[in-house]
Amino acid sequence: MAATALLAWYDRHHRSLPWRLPPDAIRRGMRPDPYRVWLSEIMLQQTTVGAVKPYFEKFIARWPDVNALAKAATDDVMKAWAGLGYYSRARNLKKCAEMVVARHGGAFPETEGELKKLPGIGDYTAAAIAAIAFGHPAAVVDGNVERVFTRLHAIVEPLPAAKQQIRRVIEALVPTSRPGDFAQATMDLGAIICTPRRPSCLLCPLAEICAARALDAQERFPVKAPKVEKPIRRGAAFVAVRPDGSVLLCRRPENGLLGGMTEVPTSSWNARADGIADVTAAPFSAPWQSCGVINHVFTHFALRLSVYRADVADVPASEGQWWSHPTNLRGEALPTVMKKVIETAIPGSTRNERGMAGI
Ligand code: ADE
Repeated sequence: MAATALLAWYDRHHRSLPWRLPPDAIRRGMRPDPYRVWLSEIMLQQTTVGAVKPYFEKFIARWPDVNALAKAATDDVMKAWAGLGYYSRARNLKKCAEMVVARHGGAFPETEGELKKLPGIGDYTAAAIAAIAFGHPAAVVDGNVERVFTRLHAIVEPLPAAKQQIRRVIEALVPTSRPGDFAQATMDLGAIICTPRRPSCLLCPLAEICAARALDAQERFPVKAPKVEKPIRRGAAFVAVRPDGSVLLCRRPENGLLGGMTEVPTSSWNARADGIADVTAAPFSAPWQSCGVINHVFTHFALRLSVYRADVADVPASEGQWWSHPTNLRGEALPTVMKKVIETAIPGSTRNERGMAGI
């Protein structure tokens, strides 16, 4: 009953997304391209549909299939990913493409078990690819889906412990026909109707059977374990600018946070209130001027970086560093935190014509 109602709703109200086939095509037995499904699902981890769309289009135009992506230079992939965050996803994306070509002849494996052996593919992504690209009745559980089902059944156990229960509920519901549409219907319902605040229950195909609605307690679900507050780390970032406007850049170590991405010289980012987060951490002596502080929230901590700028003479870059001319700056693999830093020191330098930093 719930699956039928959801699929009927999806037929009429699904979002039209560049990696999807519409429901009538799926009903005629067509399947979406597994490469597009995989690429979109990796991009959508931790990121919204709106943010992903332009990146997805850019990747598909440049690397239209898994063979093309496997052959790409890792640095080009990192640059194209810059701004999307969680950069280990980009490195795993490239490794996964190489493995699909080397071990599977360029065809993605179909089962959750085989998919999970590939870099960057965990439980969620394996289930999503198996269901959407290959029509397997896998239980696909992301944040939106958790909200829909904890409300539908008024599940009082807090997340993340409730995940097992949610999975069992979904496994019992997934239809053998159109399991991919069922998964995407739940995601769309969670994104459009069953929203975290003020859900649009009058438009919901499951309203009649929703336990949370019957209790008039929709916003109480999902119940979550209390949040631990993120620690704050401080640091300083140094934007050296040459007379031609070029900015001094370097690369972060391969492993660790933002591994392999590009940055301006910074202090380490682990200073607490008593650590060095000021101009005394500068990489060389220059007329450093304070430009302000930027805040950026990572998964495990919040970062406050003091930004300094110095206009310097035409000096050569040291080993491992390079000067990036203003015309190249937007194409560098700069993560969002670094775009914020450089914008603070040189307003307008990383923005594109739509005024967005670096997309
Ligand atoms: N979020 C993650 N994957 C999605 C998909 N396939 N459709 C809509 N939202 C999603």
